[in-house]
Amino acid sequence: MPHPLEAAMPAIKRLLLCGALAALLSACASPAGPLTHAAPLQPEAASGYSAKPGWSSSRFAVAAANPLATEAGYRMLKAGGSAIDAAIAVQMVLALVEPQSSGLGGGAFLMHYNGRDVEAFDGRETAPAAANENIFIRADGRAMAFYEAAIGGRAVGTPGAVRMLEMVHRQYGRLPWQQLFEPAITLADKGFKVSERLHALLGPERQLKKDPVALAYFYDAHGQPWPVGHQLKNPELAAVLKLIAAQGSSALLEGEVAQAIVRKVQTHADNPGQLALSDLSAYKAQKRTPLCYDLHASDRDFRLCGMPPPSSGGIAVGQILGMLANTRAASLGLEDGLPSAEWLHLYSEASRLAYADRAQYLGDPDFVQPPGGDWMNLLRPDYLASRARLIGSQRMDEVKPGQPAGMSTPYAPMPEQYEYGTSHISIIDAWGQAIAMTTTIEDAWGARLMVNRGQGLAGGFLLNNELTDFSFSPSDANGKPVANRVQGGKRPRSSMAPTLVFDKASGDLLMTLGSPGGSVIIHYTAKTIYGVLNWGLNVQQAISMPNFASLGGPTLLEESRFPAATVQALRTRGHDVREQSMTSGLQGIQRRPQGLFGGADPRREGVVMGD
Ligand code: GLY
Repeated sequence: MPHPLEAAMPAIKRLLLCGALAALLSACASPAGPLTHAAPLQPEAASGYSAKPGWSSSRFAVAAANPLATEAGYRMLKAGGSAIDAAIAVQMVLALVEPQSSGLGGGAFLMHYNGRDVEAFDGRETAPAAANENIFIRADGRAMAFYEAAIGGRAVGTPGAVRMLEMVHRQYGRLPWQQLFEPAITLADKGFKVSERLHALLGPERQLKKDPVALAYFYDAHGQPWPVGHQLKNPELAAVLKLIAAQGSSALLEGEVAQAIVRKVQTHADNPGQLALSDLSAYKAQKRTPLCYDLHASDRDFRLCGMPPPSSGGIAVGQILGMLANTRAASLGLEDGLPSAEWLHLYSEASRLAYADRAQYLGDPDFVQPPGGDWMNLLRPDYLASRARLIGSQRMDEVKPGQPAGMSTPYAPMPEQYEYGTSHISIIDAWGQAIAMTTTIEDAWGARLMVNRGQGLAGGFLLNNELTDFSFSPSDANGKPVANRVQGGKRPRSSMAPTLVFDKASGDLLMTLGSPGGSVIIHYTAKTIYGVLNWGLNVQQAISMPNFASLGGPTLLEESRFPAATVQALRTRGHDVREQSMTSGLQGIQRRPQGLFGGADPRREGVVMGD
């Protein structure tokens, strides 16, 4: 009997064709129409943009960054699986078809709604027990450059995604664990077609080729990336997936796979790391208390639940939205479908205040005390109102962290560092359960280390460089420690912001969403929530809206998407405006009276499927 994915291949081919036509004719699907898989499936390069219509369905839906991964999740939901069942199937296929962003060698955060309660699950990587705060400090006392630290074994943390998924599956799985691996195993064994995005990202990549396993897998004999449409098989990944399907996460974190991970990290010629077998076998996923807070928008009250530390995502998104609600922003609509210069000014200032708190306070809660003993102090309405009062009509010269709960802090602020990579999955199942899961190996291609057990099979899986999300400098010039400094066993601070949105009065789930994008994840997510709750956009329209951000310094605008007058008006208010590509990878699903409606980012190759 053919595997469901194989059986679906003719349909997928039709969809690809329809997708190609849709790009030309915009005629294969309409936002209000029934579920169709006919959005442009052609993947785009990092800076590409191809309009997507959004997808309607009635009972369940899955949104992920690659059509084959979405399809795997859809098959699980169709087979009676829960949201977590589908998420596991999606993650395993992403490890194969979008290996640059997430996989077995990485970590993830997952927000889960079981129809009654919200829970937060933490599968973040941990630093090796042997690591100390100076692992990114050179012999001359200066902090390393990003790629000096990221490439090789030095920045590899204990991968936590699979153990976390296993933890959630034990509680909420409906389908057997093994079944969830079948789509990925079949595709890895039989091969999948290299997508345009995978090909485009391999082209300019220089470091990956230095790993002999990755070179042999991703490139032809002349060192050229496999062309789009090439049937790429990954028998080593299939074998590892079979082990995990049969034995669970211990097949990854103990035994021959763990030995291969540790060998790869410790024996890197130029930049070895300290990850040990004991780090892997000791890894524990954590269930954390989600950060839930109220938000008033468009004369309605909402309740948002975000990921708590070690992610900064939930707090920063909540702070930005909460501060904006205390400014004139609430009275400003879109102008010609775009945020106005005045709104962008207010948003940018609120962001700078939020990022100042993020730099000051955020770190792994197992190591770092929250201000006043409770992370919610950073989201209290009176605190956010007082922070919002700092925002004037001109850009502030200097932005300082606040004092939530009247606290002074023992920590020095962390200098802003760029972060990269990552993928997002949103799912609502037929029982009304939902997940928002953001998953990462950090930079695109992670540490550029492909693990292979050495049994003669080609391919493998990539390891993360997540430890570069720690502060490279452990302290400030006066020796005051940074909260997010490296410590053995600690989780690096993240920006991932998987978010669930509820109607406050009824408690009904309204939306699940999130995005990749490093430290800009916070902005992509905040933009989409604001667009839906304040401006009445559907989730696809909100995702497609141009991106903008401030990490504390310049005001970033997605290039060629804003009028010159908006840029000039921001400059007049004192903003250093930089226009650049801003490759979000948002995925989201709304629950509306008429049914489910999902959106996927036009800047990447994601799609939504459902019934
Ligand atoms: N490495 C991306 C993040 O965790 O924010």
